[in-house]
Amino acid sequence: MSLVIRGVRLYGEGDPVDVLVADGVITEIGQDLDADTVIDAAGQILLPGFVDLHTHLREPGREDTETIETGSAAAALGGYTAVFAMANTNPVADTSVVTDHVWHRGQQVGLVDVHPVGAVTVGLAGKQLTEMALMNAGTGQVRMFSDDGVCVQDPLVMRRALEYATGLGVLIAQHAEEPRLTVGAVAHEGPNAARLGLAGWPRVAEESIVARDALLARDAGARVHICHASTAGTVELLKWAKAQGISITAEVTPHHLLLDDSRLDTYDGVNKVNPPLRESSDAAAMRQALADGIIDCVATDHAPHAEQDKCVEFANARPGMLGLQTALSVVVETMVTPGLLTWRGVAKVMSENPARIVGLPDQGRPLEVGEPANLVVVDPDASWTVQGSALASKSANTPFEAMSLPAAVTATLLRGRVTALGGTVQS
Ligand code: DOR
Ligand code: ZN
Repeated sequence: MSLVIRGVRLYGEGDPVDVLVADGVITEIGQDLDADTVIDAAGQILLPGFVDLHTHLREPGREDTETIETGSAAAALGGYTAVFAMANTNPVADTSVVTDHVWHRGQQVGLVDVHPVGAVTVGLAGKQLTEMALMNAGTGQVRMFSDDGVCVQDPLVMRRALEYATGLGVLIAQHAEEPRLTVGAVAHEGPNAARLGLAGWPRVAEESIVARDALLARDAGARVHICHASTAGTVELLKWAKAQGISITAEVTPHHLLLDDSRLDTYDGVNKVNPPLRESSDAAAMRQALADGIIDCVATDHAPHAEQDKCVEFANARPGMLGLQTALSVVVETMVTPGLLTWRGVAKVMSENPARIVGLPDQGRPLEVGEPANLVVVDPDASWTVQGSALASKSANTPFEAMSLPAAVTATLLRGRVTALGGTVQS
């Protein structure tokens, strides 16, 4: 069974070529190639499949809002070939019973590789480290550990986690939020929250943990990854830490690239997220940092929530936003259209860098003969209007509702198998 993607430009560069795929790998790149199946991609761009280091899939525990199946569909439609499912499920993914389920269920669905993230501490309670080695030994697929949703607040626990993870060769990803500084907080601390009477989440709650964890990583000779960086000050700290040779990486979400706290005027809970939407100057700093490589990658923080958990008073709304199906278009809108990133740059921040950060050998690979066919075809000239109810996710909480966004994923291939085509999942 062979397949050819016709008339596509690799990384949006050079002349159009045909890309032949067989047995899960790219077997030939040339002109006038033929195969059993033809994807006509004239005028379109081929990139390596996207890798999301930060996805919430809600299985087990809140299957009313997302399952591994529905989240995988959203991922395939968004151009992803690998996602990392965060551990804040119910039960928490703090044992291999849960992490094995997530991996195997993802493989059974077969639309995207769903890599389980293990919890750093038992029950995300911040006290006792989990048996990371046992989870890692289970399927061998647990490459990342995080208490995301909450911060590993205790510096001693964080220090031991970094040391333990270093020995195992796995990654610790930190949700940087000093909880003593965010008690009761629901929105970015600034003029808008003050005017609207919303309790503020100050930048320093994030920055103090980023600074601390950079120092802990240096001290332990460990690597640390910062989830959803959101402030200009965090960018300065990352710049400093990287210049010192500290092994620190960071991600930014699409919503922190595009949106800011001017959205809060309606008190619509769809705009509530942790960390909160910041000021427009922070969003601009995030875009520049992503362009400069200070921020390494884009991660969605795809966080589905039920309508009854979102359509309530702002203070009581659950934090989080959908992201998998809109990520590419938001990156094009904020980074490619203004000239901050080329398409090769998109491949870097959405595929190559996240694959490298977490050590995935078969993702984020060059578009060359012999490489695994984890691929995404993008129509750069398309535009579409976001409609939450039309997304594949089981929830509809997109902050981009009714926005017209550029570019569309037209096909996704996982190991040579088409998982999404023309906006439809291919199960
Ligand atoms: O907004 C958020 N939602 N931030 C997090 O850290 C967790 C996530 C969730 O699980 O809903
Ligand atoms: Zn988080």
